[in-house]
Amino acid sequence: MSTTQPASYSPIHIILHWVIAALILFQLIFGESMGDLKHVLRDGGVPDTATAFLANAHIWVGIAVLALTVIRLLVRAKFGVPAPLPTSRAQELAARGVHGLLYLLMLLAPITGLLAWYGGIHTAEEIHELSKPFFIVLIALHVLGALYHHIALKDGIMMRMVSSRH
Ligand code: HEM
Ligand code: HEM
Repeated sequence: MSTTQPASYSPIHIILHWVIAALILFQLIFGESMGDLKHVLRDGGVPDTATAFLANAHIWVGIAVLALTVIRLLVRAKFGVPAPLPTSRAQELAARGVHGLLYLLMLLAPITGLLAWYGGIHTAEEIHELSKPFFIVLIALHVLGALYHHIALKDGIMMRMVSSRH
């Protein structure tokens, strides 16, 4: 664990933030291919090339999100993160809450996906499907919060996630 609070996010934390964000967006946009594959296989059919490719990508991209999130949490524990920018206590708590829930989903979505697909666990499948709307709401709140800081408060929050020199 880091003992002193750094002035900025580490470069590896910043790269992981944007790579994981892009991979999650891919999962949310193309996730339905897994349901399509499941139905084709259940009916004894053969999936078309696009469905087979996207479903395969869904599995590997999901595993990548899980691995990169674990690495990111270890990097976070080792190097720490900068102190929150000054806002009201309520806004700070809201930001912390949204960040915590995003990290939780970044672990829960791939784990439940793996348990559903390889373990055939129905509850895991239900939780996995629910991760979609939860992710969408949390990402929307997160992006609106970042834009509020950037546009209304003009406190340079975006640059904290762009360069470690800020
Ligand atoms: C799937 C999409 C995304 C996920 C899962 C995500 C997740 C996170 C998490 C968990 C943190 C907290 C970092 C930490 O303290 O360890 C964070 C910080 C941040 N994110 Fe995102 N993010 C996403 C997309 C975006 C987008 C699109 C933007 C820009 C509009 C953005 C801007 C930021 C900024 C500026 C911070 C730093 C906040 C601060 O310094 O207090 N994020 N993000
Ligand atoms: C960050 C990681 C992941 C995200 C964000 C994600 C997201 C999604 C989304 C949005 C859907 C479509 C749900 C719907 O149509 O309502 C889906 C379906 C599915 N995903 Fe994932 N997924 C992830 C990782 C994985 C992994 C690693 C697996 C393992 C094989 C997996 C297995 C499945 C399965 C089996 C379905 C079909 C569920 C059904 O329709 O019965 N997912 N996923």
